[in-house]
Amino acid sequence: MFQSLKEQPVDKIMLTAQAYRADDRAQKIDLGVGVYKDATGLTPVMRAVKAAEKKLWETENTKVYTALAGEPAFADAMVSLVLGDAVPRASVAAVATPGGTGAVREAFELVKMANPKARVFVSDPSWPNHAAIIDYLGLSRKSYRYFDETTRGFDFDGMMTDIQDAGEGDVVLLHGCCHNPTGANPTVAQWGQIVDAIVASGALPMVDIAYQGFGDGLDADAFATRLVASKASECLIAASCSKNFGIYRERTGILMGVSKEGTGTKLAQGVLTALNRLNFSFPPDHGARLVTMILTDPDLKAMWMEELEEVRLSMLGLRQQLADELKRLTNSDRFDFLAQHRGMFSRLGTTPEVVEMMRADHAIYMIPDSRMNIAGLNSQTVPLLAAAIVKAGL
Ligand code: LMR
Repeated sequence: MFQSLKEQPVDKIMLTAQAYRADDRAQKIDLGVGVYKDATGLTPVMRAVKAAEKKLWETENTKVYTALAGEPAFADAMVSLVLGDAVPRASVAAVATPGGTGAVREAFELVKMANPKARVFVSDPSWPNHAAIIDYLGLSRKSYRYFDETTRGFDFDGMMTDIQDAGEGDVVLLHGCCHNPTGANPTVAQWGQIVDAIVASGALPMVDIAYQGFGDGLDADAFATRLVASKASECLIAASCSKNFGIYRERTGILMGVSKEGTGTKLAQGVLTALNRLNFSFPPDHGARLVTMILTDPDLKAMWMEELEEVRLSMLGLRQQLADELKRLTNSDRFDFLAQHRGMFSRLGTTPEVVEMMRADHAIYMIPDSRMNIAGLNSQTVPLLAAAIVKAGL
């Protein structure tokens, strides 16, 4: 049986992580996989998470199954964090999922059940697993332009033109904030036009929001998602707690289906719960429980928000330092886009060959499409990266 299997492609983020681990040079710099790291290179357990874990250890007296859809209190807390008061709680179906990826996967499964002929419009570029999951499920996939290679900014006109092709029965996938892999994002005004165009087209908007709090702040980063939810009659939202709570390995995420149409919410809730049962039965609970404790306890919440803000500001500081250093070295402002991008990532805008050269010559690891994880830097490595960029002739 196994002999008939085909080898599966390993995605470029995972390949970069493997190559970094295998490199034994002492001075290596990891700008690959998207995890936050502090100045010492550690991905810390957040203070509020530690405090919640201590409290949970002292009070939890059973590990019996949670509900198939996850704990209702987790759904309530997350709907409130992501959607604020954009829509009534009763219009939101929600299930806890294993991480944001679990939510993305089930969102596309729901789409396939509703309309196997749906075309999913995905930004070019996007997180590679988006395309991989869509293709694996046999849905049809279309790209829309997103990144302007010249300015290294968001290609608004390109996107507006390309999503015009979407219509009823299709899905337009959006990154709620902190676009992965480019770091380039629409302005508030552009979001307004994008959402209006999708709503007018009749396509279903789907938002993947994995970095809330890493860009401009918790509410500012949820702006686009809330706009979609308030304007569209139906939408899907996949949210991850991996990054903003730093609980990557706990696999904590949520899939929300918003519907203002008839029995839409009830149907979506039933299907999402059934998908959980089919895929893994009960969703992981530990991370979801910590998130619920943090979001519902004013002291823990304040502690979490304070640390999240430190994380956000440290990434902004590194962006600015890198842009300043490159300005100094090149005597030009062509790298200013690095300070304007938001979130963990910036696409430098160079070839896989140059990326490979940086790896070979300087032990600097970025994804072959030149995505850099800004959080992989610190104030000492910024000048090393800037010098390598200049040496590469960019
Ligand atoms: C990334 O984009 O690097 C992260 O989302 C990690 C992953 O699973 O790919």
